[in-house]
Amino acid sequence: MVHGRLAVPLLLLGLAAMSRAEAPQAAAARIDALIAQMTLEEKLGQLTQQWGGLSQDINPGARQQALADLLGMARAGVIGSYLGATGAEHTNTLQRAAVEESRLKIPLLFGNDIIHGYRTVFPIPLAEAATWNPTLIEQACRVAAVEGRAAGTHWTFAPMIDVCRDPRWGRVAETAGEDHFLGAQFAAARVRGFQGDNLASPNAMLACGKHFVAYGAAEGGRDYNTVDVSPQTLHEVHLSTFRAAVDAGVGSIMSAFNEINGIPATAHPHMLQTMLRGQMGFNGLVVSDWGSINEMIAHGYAADSGQAALQAIRAGVDMDMCSGAYRSQLAERVTRGELDVKVVDAAVRRILEAKQRLGLFDNPYIDPALEKRVMLTAEHRALARDVARRSIVLLKNENGLLPLKKQPGKIALIGPLADAAKDMLGTWSLYGKPEEVVTLLAGLRNTLGPNAKLGVSKGSEVQAALAGGIDDAVKLARESDIVILAVGESEDMSGEGHSRANIDIPQPQQELIEAVCATGKPVVLVLFNGRPMALQWAADHVPAMLVAWQGGVEAGNAIADVIFGDFNPSGRLPATFPRVTGQVPIHYNHRNTGRPAREGDRYTSKYIDLPTTPLYPFGFGLSYTSFRYAEATVSPTEATADGKFSLSVVVTNTGTRAGEELVQAYYRDPVASMTRPVRQLCGFERVSLAPGESKRVVIEIPAQRLGFYDWDAKFLVEPGVIQFFLGPHSAEGLQVDAQIK
Ligand code: GLC
Repeated sequence: MVHGRLAVPLLLLGLAAMSRAEAPQAAAARIDALIAQMTLEEKLGQLTQQWGGLSQDINPGARQQALADLLGMARAGVIGSYLGATGAEHTNTLQRAAVEESRLKIPLLFGNDIIHGYRTVFPIPLAEAATWNPTLIEQACRVAAVEGRAAGTHWTFAPMIDVCRDPRWGRVAETAGEDHFLGAQFAAARVRGFQGDNLASPNAMLACGKHFVAYGAAEGGRDYNTVDVSPQTLHEVHLSTFRAAVDAGVGSIMSAFNEINGIPATAHPHMLQTMLRGQMGFNGLVVSDWGSINEMIAHGYAADSGQAALQAIRAGVDMDMCSGAYRSQLAERVTRGELDVKVVDAAVRRILEAKQRLGLFDNPYIDPALEKRVMLTAEHRALARDVARRSIVLLKNENGLLPLKKQPGKIALIGPLADAAKDMLGTWSLYGKPEEVVTLLAGLRNTLGPNAKLGVSKGSEVQAALAGGIDDAVKLARESDIVILAVGESEDMSGEGHSRANIDIPQPQQELIEAVCATGKPVVLVLFNGRPMALQWAADHVPAMLVAWQGGVEAGNAIADVIFGDFNPSGRLPATFPRVTGQVPIHYNHRNTGRPAREGDRYTSKYIDLPTTPLYPFGFGLSYTSFRYAEATVSPTEATADGKFSLSVVVTNTGTRAGEELVQAYYRDPVASMTRPVRQLCGFERVSLAPGESKRVVIEIPAQRLGFYDWDAKFLVEPGVIQFFLGPHSAEGLQVDAQIK
């Protein structure tokens, strides 16, 4: 028996050996042996995550004290993870205190929100979804992992895989939109991108599927609001992206702030145990959201922090993000016999396993030279530009106004987002630097060169009028040949805690747009947005409209590439754009009701003051060329529940430019034992076509993809007719029918 003091270093040698892919059972045994060495305080420390960043704007003395406190906890072995700590120097300093000075020398786990890029900031996730290209976004997440890990982050709190059907919700910006099938493709791709194929390598980060679950279904689109959702919708829509993330090997899950039908997600045994760990087979670590354990008191579910901590750890939350409840409340409950220490040990084990998979016992430190080498390289910028270009959606292009010639005469660039670097980065871009952003103004100049005839006028602020702004803008417009409007939302009008009750373009900008359009000059409207927006007036009056989202560090170059035709836009909407806010929530895969809307018949499901159709449907997007669909087929016309259907359609480029078309496959189950959506996306395929070229595009659909959940939330694939639709978006397509036997 080796003495206690000596046992620990030998154990760590063993743990380090684990990183070199030793047999899993040996790895497990060593973790168990380490747990056996731990005091209860050290165990609860491992379950605790708190802020580890050092604010730049506190005085040096306060900063020194803050650092001393962080180091003290690490040395005492009473902290398992910090969030907010980045940079090789700072994280290595904290790590040395844990690994070289604490009793058990267990490495710290550094977590951060690297959502759409670290220093190379990519477009917001909603924009990335508009590429409908999971493989491309996997590459973007790979770059984020290379940069993030090099800066000391082992664990990113991403991908955010909530599904949102209500664009008033500020966090729609972080989602892949309104559709769970598209969302599941991106969830899996992002997990693969962040984690790579070896978490112990210096360019991988542990991913975190969040927020478990149904956070995007907050009533009224108000952040943190109540979620009351049917079991069918919970299973079919909100859990499906998590199934995809778990199947892709996501290493952690974050519990959501919201309640689900009366039980807070942070203490929901059915969701966390039965569903996540049981049915889905997830065996990674679960972390609460920031302070969500103690928030169960406000939920009216816990009387105090002690009860909340007990509920959360029993339900399966392993790590307490920033509420401090585990470390302060659970020791007493263990000693009082209220909480079995085995529950604590199981949580500790999952956290140590994550650290081991990341290779932290073997290589706990970051190479500062690597950090300097990998940030914002030319390759990373080029990828960011390509993602941004592919995310841009062309909504309208009357008389082929776009693309502009490169010498289009004098251009008036007007609007508060014309040169708005910070707003291009979008929400959750904590590590991007505005000074490294290419704004629309810069992008136009890069394309047109130093002699460009380009005038700029802000016209208004984003949410306020600008004295004389409209007059100045109108004057410039009158002196110019064409106007490019840069309007929409600032980066802080979406994201966490930024829900909007009205999703119009802010009124001061609307007045600017109307005044500029009244000059009669041709206008291209470039929308910068973190959500779908209500654009009825612009759609009726502006000849050309592009959705540019918040396009990241290369936004301006990407938009210029599209405006001047160096890139033919291929983005498609990942979420429905309503006519007015009053239509919200609105989504394409709605059910038919017993009285589907019928014009002229008021006693059908519609409004008396507005059409029920959206302004632009899910999947919509134009190109500088045009496409025709013909000869749709399905084979076989009959298949069993374990079979598959092969859909095909001939797509022809009927325009004069090469272009990419995104062929979308939807289905409808017209008669079933549960009412089914009028359309549901079931596949998509990109095809590139030269002018005049035709190709037959084939999309395989496993019959299992056509199943649904019954009243008891049991999954089934029911015999009967299936209608398939092959087309350019959710509101148009050639129909072919088949049968599930
Ligand atoms: C926030 C967010 C979550 C984020 C966490 C850490 O409140 O809900 O998405 O990862 O706290 O910043």
